Amino acid sequence: MIKIVKTKPAEYTGDMLVYLVRQIKKTISKCDNRSVQEMIDRAIESGDFSGKEGQTFLYYPEVDPDNKKGVRRILVIGMGKEDPDRELFRKAGGTIASTVKKTKALNIMVVAPETTGMAADDIVECLAEGVLLGNYQFKKYKTGNDPEDEDGCIKEVVIFAQDEALAKKGMKRGRIASDAVSVARDMANEPANFWTPTDFGEFGKELARKYPLKVKVLGKSDITKLKMGGLLAVNQGSAIPPTMTIVEYRTGKKVPKILLVGKGLTFDSGGISIKSGSGMHEMKYDMCGGAAVLAVMQAIGEERPNHCDVIAIVPATENMPGPSAVKPGDVITHYGGKTVEVINTDAEGRLILADALAYGVEKFKPDAVIDLATLTGAVVVGLGHHRTGLMSTDDRLAEKLIAAGARCGEPLWRLPLGPEYTKQLKSTVADLKNIGNRTGGTITAGAFLQEFVGDVPWAHLDIAGTAWDFTEKSYIPKGPSGVGVRTLLELVRHWKRS
Ligand code: BES
Ligand code: ZN
Ligand code: ZN
Repeated sequence: MIKIVKTKPAEYTGDMLVYLVRQIKKTISKCDNRSVQEMIDRAIESGDFSGKEGQTFLYYPEVDPDNKKGVRRILVIGMGKEDPDRELFRKAGGTIASTVKKTKALNIMVVAPETTGMAADDIVECLAEGVLLGNYQFKKYKTGNDPEDEDGCIKEVVIFAQDEALAKKGMKRGRIASDAVSVARDMANEPANFWTPTDFGEFGKELARKYPLKVKVLGKSDITKLKMGGLLAVNQGSAIPPTMTIVEYRTGKKVPKILLVGKGLTFDSGGISIKSGSGMHEMKYDMCGGAAVLAVMQAIGEERPNHCDVIAIVPATENMPGPSAVKPGDVITHYGGKTVEVINTDAEGRLILADALAYGVEKFKPDAVIDLATLTGAVVVGLGHHRTGLMSTDDRLAEKLIAAGARCGEPLWRLPLGPEYTKQLKSTVADLKNIGNRTGGTITAGAFLQEFVGDVPWAHLDIAGTAWDFTEKSYIPKGPSGVGVRTLLELVRHWKRS
């Protein structure tokens, strides 16, 4: 689907050639192809094009009648005035994908500008990510009868690069990350009647068949034996059993161990504290944290890093009302023995995560734990759809995550934790209650989880605002974004270096 070539653009015979051009001061950096440069000059003269970021024009060059081999479409994309960074190349990639989608072109070649100050592998990595993520479509349940549906989809992208070996390294990183994000988006796009807790288990088993990963899927009887009272309570109202999927990547060496935990709530109706109807269908996305951590394991399985072990745990269930559902006021006992008074059955994510965190910390003794969850509506109120909420007991881990998010175009914003928030969770009948009062809802949710991780450096990412409807960008489609996959992968890739 994506490859690096040294074929000169002038010799390319596919469907479309794409030139990325920088706007340097008021002019455009000179393009190596004279006829393309002439066309750019004309477009500038007409006033239609200035090379501003995201600007595009497509034209159909004359083809020599005796030699019909030449490319039939040329797309020029502006990169703006600023020195390009990783995000700019990703966005350019996304613009390529969305423009190509509107044409019949299937095979394209991309020519990146040479003078950018960025290393070739970084450029290619980000371009590849942008094109592949922008090209993402989920059409499984479309029967193909809607004429409005765009059917275009790039089949092959070749990137022209001078330093082939370096570019190939970057392309591989971009391809692995984009494949993982696409897999996370696929899981999230699946409706809750097709993506159940069992499917998380099956996905984990599939990963272990394909890659050097170990999987264990705990079923309802295992979960009962382990006394995971949170996961069982949330599952009580559902007709389908819970699972807990554990995927391990081991180097066999004495290296740092990172534990990832993702909320796998396949549908959150709210339970007895039922949600209002509007927008409830979006609660099929309440498993995006779980999807993201398993997708990261796919990427880890492909990359086989030798500098750290990575373990992912996904507790999965639906949250449904019903005669046997958990009720407000019920007291439950989590893995490890802590008791919780369930005040609101809609604050269920923290209940299933509490068991997974307590179990994961005890069993694997990790050096760091990161959980990812669509946990609170309050984070959307506070940060909108533009930043993931981050809470952490460890400044170094928080900084690493913020840096990784920034490199990926997935910004994080840190919120505090502290005893004043934890105090809001005091219960009169149990060790804790599962909600605070109406204030600081994102932080009290984090403070609840904190009670289950002991002293291990831990970070919590509340992705309720970013897992779908994330900041509109050329490479982020409507629907699930796959947020967190690239940030966590980047964190793992850079772990030893920081
Ligand atoms: N899954 C929701 C959080 C959510 C809300 C995610 C909106 C994405 C968009 C979570 O389980 C929930 O319902 N949280 C409650 C907590 C409250 C009862 C303290 C919420 O945020 O309203
Ligand atoms: Zn809920
Ligand atoms: Zn939920």
